[in-house]
Amino acid sequence: MMNPPKQTIGVCYYPEHWPESRWEEDARLMVAAGITHVRIGEFAWSKLEPNPGAYNFDWLDKSFDVLHRHGLKVVLGTPTATPPKWLVDRMPDMLAVDADGQIRGFGSRRHYCFSHEEYRKECARITTEFAKRYGKHSALIAWQTDNEYGCHDTVLSYSDAALKGFRNWLAQKYQSPDAMNRAWGNIFWSMEYRSFDEVELPNLTVTEPNPAHVMDFRRYSSDQVKSFNRLQTDIIRKHSNAPIGHNFMGSYTDFDHYAVSEDLDIATWDSYPIGFLDRDSSDDENKARYLGVGDPDLQAFHHDLYRACGEVRNGAVDGRWWVMEQQPGPVNWAPYNPAPYPGAVELWAWEAFAAGAELVSYFRWRQPSFAQEQMHEALLLPNGEFNEGYHVCEKVSKLLKQMDSKAQVVRADVALVFDYESQWAWEIQPQGKDFSYIELVMRYYRALRRQGINVDVIPPTKEAITGRKLIIMPGMFNVSEDFAAALESSKAVILAGPRTGSKDENFQIVQDLPPGALRKLINIKITRVESRPHHSPVLLQDDLAFEGWREFVVPEASVSASMKSEDGHDAIFENDRMIYLAGRPNAPLVDYIVTAALNKAEVKTTRLHRDIRVRDNNNVRYIFNYGPETVDCSELIGDAQLVFGAASLAPRSVTAYKL
Ligand code: GAL
Repeated sequence: MMNPPKQTIGVCYYPEHWPESRWEEDARLMVAAGITHVRIGEFAWSKLEPNPGAYNFDWLDKSFDVLHRHGLKVVLGTPTATPPKWLVDRMPDMLAVDADGQIRGFGSRRHYCFSHEEYRKECARITTEFAKRYGKHSALIAWQTDNEYGCHDTVLSYSDAALKGFRNWLAQKYQSPDAMNRAWGNIFWSMEYRSFDEVELPNLTVTEPNPAHVMDFRRYSSDQVKSFNRLQTDIIRKHSNAPIGHNFMGSYTDFDHYAVSEDLDIATWDSYPIGFLDRDSSDDENKARYLGVGDPDLQAFHHDLYRACGEVRNGAVDGRWWVMEQQPGPVNWAPYNPAPYPGAVELWAWEAFAAGAELVSYFRWRQPSFAQEQMHEALLLPNGEFNEGYHVCEKVSKLLKQMDSKAQVVRADVALVFDYESQWAWEIQPQGKDFSYIELVMRYYRALRRQGINVDVIPPTKEAITGRKLIIMPGMFNVSEDFAAALESSKAVILAGPRTGSKDENFQIVQDLPPGALRKLINIKITRVESRPHHSPVLLQDDLAFEGWREFVVPEASVSASMKSEDGHDAIFENDRMIYLAGRPNAPLVDYIVTAALNKAEVKTTRLHRDIRVRDNNNVRYIFNYGPETVDCSELIGDAQLVFGAASLAPRSVTAYKL
């Protein structure tokens, strides 16, 4: 394992937006705030190549030099998320097409279709120029490929290029149209194809397309993101030894982030806690309580997910991950854009460092007075004076230094499986209007965090489950024979359901009924499922209930059933290794079942106040108060030595103590 790296602060910087005469001052102020890493370049194509083939790298050379002179490290982004107008005009069919057949035009960003071969060649060309010119620059610390693949719903494109690519992909996968017809079940509704060239994209159909057809299109589209990224990483690696990352966008699930991460050295993600709150949080009471600080579990979930992405390439627990963009003030793109509460920006930084981030990098250095993001705050005001975020950087960087804080990741006892195919599967076939895979996973994640434990979010692989005491896998659409065997030979307790293991890889109901391959671990059969509107939950006992989804299960003799619904059906199934929950749990039920599983796995827990969260990194435990009231945590801390903060946590504050 490599030496754990120091934890540090970065910023996203756009020198091309400001006069050159200001650059020295910017660099000086960055250093004064304790910033060490500066990301540049990722949207600058039109300035770097104003006319086809006529490169203008002088300004970027100078910018590198200024930053270097001040001892700052550069993260260089390839500019492929913003192809310039002349390029689009040369090949207008590079633009993506939406599901309604409308072209997604020039004038913002991410205006390209991943499947377009000629655009890929252009990306290879500009990436080669970048890699050759800066690959060995001593200021270069890392690369970023493109920017936020998938943001603005840009993974799925229904273009001619995608159609051609999809047909080839199907031909390779199935080898014969008959094999594809069988796998998809195309005998149904006379959907059989005689050749791959007859297959269309699964949009503009009269009613729903075949779920297997859509699933393969989702897989194809995800593969395009992977190969698009791989094209750049292969080129960069030829010319540079600097590690490569990509900044994933939170809650975007249209492509497999683990698969893309196989080609990256560092997984990074962009964290906008207040922007995400409105989109991702469940109820209005939550949204009001956490308006200026964000959902107490959403950032943490993503930290845990991207730590897993950072591990995919190395296959070890020394995976590297960063927050590449951190919100420092109100953003411009959510339905409402409230200001962070006092303390919130600092709390977010510590939440990331506590989860093992090497770098928290703010978006962005200075607020522009022009264009789309003029209402998005930054560390500096539009006039170049300090904004609040700047002072947070000063404070956090000083503390990090004092603590000599390192990103040291230790494998958690408890792992929660998050699987991208399952997300696509239940988007394709929710079966009940509001059934969402990621929301189901978040229910379990929240319950685990309420128990005050470290959690790893993991892909469904043998490697990732090694050494766990408890593995939780709700809603996993297809449990392969291999993964079931790996689960069986692990020593972990397993908690699954609902919907876990219910389909095979061809999107057909598993042979001999769900939970399919999981029957190795728990001998039950699911004979019926029902989805129900939110006004009609299935009541179990006290305040425990299934919301929106319930399964009817027949257990074999080795399995005991507990807790009946008020209408007389067993709800929880258990043997010595495994628990299966036959419905979507409401908050009290998910707490109940997670507690039962943690007890079964003999994991020590600490029940926390509703606004308090904890996370350990290295030998330090961090406590976070996301709530509006002061919370006394002296019982939790005992007589441990405080690193910073106080035992009585003010609203939106953090305390750290030695373990
Ligand atoms: C991110 C993006 C940045 C910037 C930021 C604004 O999604 O990567 O370029 O647009 O949002 O919050």
